[in-house]
Amino acid sequence: MKLKEFTSLFLQHTQLTRRHLTPELALRLITRECPLWAAPVTLSPFTDPYWGFYWPGGQAVARYVLDNEKVVKNRNILDVGCGCGAGAIAAAKMNAKRVVANDIDTYALEVTKINADYNDVKLETNANNFIGAKCDEFDAILIGDMFYDEDFARILFDWLSELTNKGKTVLIGDPGRHGLTESRRNQMSLIARYNLQEQSCMENNGFTETTVWKLKKYVICKCILFKYIFKLLIPDP
Ligand SMILES: C[S@@+](CC[C@H](N)C(=O)[O-])C[C@H]1O[C@@H](n2cnc3c(N)ncnc32)[C@H](O)[C@@H]1O
Repeated sequence: MKLKEFTSLFLQHTQLTRRHLTPELALRLITRECPLWAAPVTLSPFTDPYWGFYWPGGQAVARYVLDNEKVVKNRNILDVGCGCGAGAIAAAKMNAKRVVANDIDTYALEVTKINADYNDVKLETNANNFIGAKCDEFDAILIGDMFYDEDFARILFDWLSELTNKGKTVLIGDPGRHGLTESRRNQMSLIARYNLQEQSCMENNGFTETTVWKLKKYVICKCILFKYIFKLLIPDP
């Protein structure tokens, strides 16, 4: 679908709402009042409209940024998997030096630009796959609700651990998805916990709260140490 057609369908099928954890931000989303909400998948003009929802993890990380300006102020911020763009928009609103909203879904970037305009903030968008990249130009990385798949969670967490060890601030918003295993949670500090609003609870069966985690810097050191001990115990043949 061409971007012009997408934008027109997006505006038709979404509603501007502040009914979420960050009412400071006006976001166009697929809400319960939108006919698309209850429509069968076959009648939806969109495939996998992740960008049409404000995921609990994203709500947590954006709420945290809005309440803790110093995390982003005068810093270069990358919001990976930005979806509707709320994390990036929150960072721009709290005086980040530069904000890049990243998603491999170009429709998400279009939605982010539209939502950024509603909130009168400037940001850049980027459709590259950053996973594994050095990210030298960024000071902090925001992750909202990206631990829903175990295989992806492993790759994502290893990369974020490397970035943390290089001195980047990594904030992860997550409502308790299975990809953030106990062992991964042990390598992070829980820095905020929020109750989800009624609308979000209905959208996310089973989740009533959401959290923000910060990766601990020594994670990668521990991994290297374990690998080293393992190699000592079981040398290569
Ligand atoms: C569950 S949604 C979360 C969106 C948003 N962060 C939020 O919390 O509302 C996950 C998003 O990650 C994006 N995504 C998946 N893999 C990605 C990758 N390798 N790089 C960037 N974005 C990715 C998807 O397109 C989707 O928009």
